[in-house]
Amino acid sequence: MLNVGVLASGSGSNFQAIIDEVAAGRLNCQIKLLIVDNPNAYAIERAKRHSIECLYINPDEFPTEDIFFIKVAMELRARDVELVVLAGFMRIVGKLLVDAFPGKIMNIHPALLPSFPGLYSQKQAIDYSVKISGCTVHFVDEGVDTGPVIIQAAVPVSPEDTEKTLSERILKLEHKILPEAIRLYAEGRLKIKGRVVKIEGCETRNECIINPPLR
Ligand code: GRF
Repeated sequence: MLNVGVLASGSGSNFQAIIDEVAAGRLNCQIKLLIVDNPNAYAIERAKRHSIECLYINPDEFPTEDIFFIKVAMELRARDVELVVLAGFMRIVGKLLVDAFPGKIMNIHPALLPSFPGLYSQKQAIDYSVKISGCTVHFVDEGVDTGPVIIQAAVPVSPEDTEKTLSERILKLEHKILPEAIRLYAEGRLKIKGRVVKIEGCETRNECIINPPLR
């Protein structure tokens, strides 16, 4: 069974989506630890409700962000975490965490990367007046939302959309593709070669061009 560690900063609805898939028996992993960098993150309540160990690690207590991420890596390693999932985590993870978990950190981003990286992606999409946006699960490298793409899912954007309406529409799909990406990883079906993430058992390009069939 895959040991998963989750990092969150806020509401934790993506964290909840993972919890729900595990509880439903559709995701064969154990959530060993939630780490938050915000003591008011509602994700903490979600962890308590499901008896998942939660650690608040205050970045301000460390002289540098690198040392903060060393602490994060140590706590994850101490619980034998094999996959780190950034679920609404608002910091750019440093090289030290990436090096500690090479090819083992996933992030969910509320846009179709490489479009609209960074913060306020939904607002960026509205301001650009795109017709399609969506969300991306990708492996994390040292850049900002630049790692190899695992799964993407698209939503239409209308001129009447606001940042709120678009965020809500995208969030519903985030809650589907993040657990799906973790499931594929747990089943050993994700093979990374450079920028390319091949999904074994999803051979035809058409089938994978958007995302594998969501169960
Ligand atoms: C989500 O849109 C996620 O993609 C972004 O933060 C938002 C809130 O996520 N990184 P959550 O509800 O805290 O999971």
